[in-house]
Amino acid sequence: MTQRFTGKVALVTGGGSGIGRAVARALATEGATVVVAGRDAASLDETVKLIEADNGTAAAVTADVTVAEQVESLVTTVVDRFGALDVAVNNAGVLGRPAPLADLDETVWHSVIDTNLTGVYLSMKYEIARMRGRGGAIVNIASNIGAHGRRPGLGAYAAAKAAVSTLTRNAALEYIGEGIRINAVSPGPSDTAMSLHPGETPQDRADRLAGALPIGRVGALEEIASAVLWLAADESGFTVGHDLVVDGGATA
Ligand SMILES: NC(=O)c1ccc[n+]([C@@H]2O[C@H](COP(=O)([O-])OP(=O)(O)OC[C@H]3O[C@@H](n4cnc5c(N)ncnc54)[C@H](OP(=O)(O)O)[C@@H]3O)[C@@H](O)[C@H]2O)c1
Repeated sequence: MTQRFTGKVALVTGGGSGIGRAVARALATEGATVVVAGRDAASLDETVKLIEADNGTAAAVTADVTVAEQVESLVTTVVDRFGALDVAVNNAGVLGRPAPLADLDETVWHSVIDTNLTGVYLSMKYEIARMRGRGGAIVNIASNIGAHGRRPGLGAYAAAKAAVSTLTRNAALEYIGEGIRINAVSPGPSDTAMSLHPGETPQDRADRLAGALPIGRVGALEEIASAVLWLAADESGFTVGHDLVVDGGATA
């Protein structure tokens, strides 16, 4: 097994489940000390246990990415406790209850924009502050829905994710001169519980979504994680401001 992250400290927001947990586990397997953050302490602790069971090093910090003070305190905790922040994966996100625009409740709009867009802005703001002077790599999790900019019923989500891609490119240009490399991964439908319909199991969801994908199946979490790790690793050192779409051909 390659150890691309030995000696590195990584932060993964939304690390208590789904893609974030898979990314956290993969980073730890490759030698990183990983801090997972989210709102629910129990799911974060479960990720830490899984990493420790694989002989990795991890810690959990509860934080809401929509609250500036909590994000600042999260990043400060990472640096105080582990000495640096080398890699940040801004993955926390919510789908929001689907509705066409005129029926979209304002509270849903604000929650989706606050988490998926403002959360990435706040995370990058405090991460970059700690990476300045020593460099680092940031990978934001956008979505293939943002990459092609449309999904009826999910306007807030699509708009937020498209904006994450744009913000990623912009910030990448602002900070590459300081050795901070910023990129994004835009997953397509992946094997998580993110958009379960009422009464649906994760397997039902995977079967429902698979039919609409050229590859005929949803993405495995490890497949999304490996794209994230490539962008976070030195081997992608010449890749800057890229949005890597990993979606089984959905937007090909
Ligand atoms: N699954 C897919 O098909 C798919 C496709 C494209 C893109 N994505 C993106 O991939 C990312 C991960 O999604 P997932 O599929 O793994 O779903 P998930 O299992 O629901 O993960 C989302 C994570 O975000 C955290 N989170 C939500 N709001 C937060 C907040 N305000 N502060 C801190 N953490 C927060 C959640 O933890 P807490 O509830 O404990 O806070 C949870 O761990 C999201 O950005 C999503 O939009 C997913």
